[in-house]
Formats: sequence, C-alpha cells, structure tokens
Amino acid sequence: MKIGIVVGSIREERKGIKVGEWLLAQTRTRDDAEYVLIDLKSFDVPLLTSPTHPAQAKKQYESANVRRWSEAIDACDGFVFVTAEYNHGVPGAFKNAVDSVAPEWTNKPVSFVGYGSVDGSRAIEQWRQILANFSMFDIRAQVGLNGFTDFETDGTVKPNDRKSESAQTMLDQLVAEVRLRAS
Ligand SMILES: Cc1cc2nc3c(=O)[nH]c(=O)nc-3n(C[C@H](O)[C@H](O)[C@H](O)COP(=O)(O)O)c2cc1C
Repeated sequence: MKIGIVVGSIREERKGIKVGEWLLAQTRTRDDAEYVLIDLKSFDVPLLTSPTHPAQAKKQYESANVRRWSEAIDACDGFVFVTAEYNHGVPGAFKNAVDSVAPEWTNKPVSFVGYGSVDGSRAIEQWRQILANFSMFDIRAQVGLNGFTDFETDGTVKPNDRKSESAQTMLDQLVAEVRLRAS
C-alpha cells in the first residue's frame, strides 16, 4: 500500500513543506504502508489551459510536467492532503494541480492535515466537497495545526503530543479505508 502525502503550497519559504515533513516523521513508527512525500512545488504544474478535459485525456497529457504529476498520483492508493488555507479557501495552485488530472484520484481514500489561524479547517471542508467529484472517500479524522501555537517563529512545526496522536488516528482510518476499498 502506498500513501502519498501531498504538499500543496508552492510559495517560496512556505510552511507547507515543513508540515509535510512533520507528518512523514509521524509515519516512521508505522509499518502498514509506504508513505511518500509528493511535493507539488517540484512538479511545476502549469495552469490548466488544455482544451481536453483531464477525465477524457486517457492520462496522455500535453504537458510533460503534468504527465510526471499524473504518474506520482497514479502510483498511490490513498492520500493525505497537506493544505494551507488562502482567503478562507483552498490554495489556487493546489486546486489547479488537482484539476489537471482526474482518473488518478478516482475512488481513492483521502485524509487531511490543515494549518492556519483556524487550523486550515475551512480549506479542509472545501476539499471534502471538491474531491467528492472524483468519488474519493474522505476520512473523518483530520489534523489541524494552529498557525499561532503549533509553529515556532522560524516556521518549524512544534505541535503538542495530542496532534501526533490525532495524526496516528487519521492514518489508522485512512489505511483501514484503503484496505476496505481493495477487498
Ligand atoms: C494569499 C494568502 C491568503 C491567506 N489567507 C488565509 C486565510 O484565509 N486563513 C488563514 O488561516 N490563513 C491565511 N493565510 C496565512 C497562511 O495560513 C500562512 O501564510 C501559511 O504559512 C500559508 O501556508 P504556506 O506557507 O504553506 O503557503 C493566507 C496566506 C496567503 C499567502
């Protein structure tokens, strides 16, 4: 079983990559799946301008960067979306990358780690609505890191033990859902 931890913010000096690395560190005690970090920034996914709907593209995307992104997503059985919240919603670059492929997401379980002034909760709620269109199975348990209390001033992630516990609960539910879908 392969779980992709998808870091969706691409800004210079973003907090997102540190959140993704923190989550990856939380998986080190687990032997139930292979956990991989998928950093959207490293794919440089272009704005979606193709006339072909991604669901109809048969994974033959015009852009080589989108094909690489497609392969990384396709290889996973489930996901954790590591999401910031921009203007009370999902980050635009992340949404664009999600829109740019389609069958790679379909019918797969997904869970969320959000961060921000209200733990990224508004962005997570929007993702739940959006990903329903791919018939994804969203996991109830989620992790919320607070922008004021769970980070040091240099952006280092320093949550309390409860956040680590909720990460394990979320991953337990995610892995169980992937197993259920595979059976
Ligand atoms: C364009 C923009 C909009 C933002 N809007 C929100 C917001 O609505 N809610 C919130 O909690 N934080 C908001 N923030 C602050 C982010 O939580 C904070 O900058 C965080 O570090 C963003 O994640 P990133 O560094 O991984 O990009 C916003 C930041 C940016 C750049």
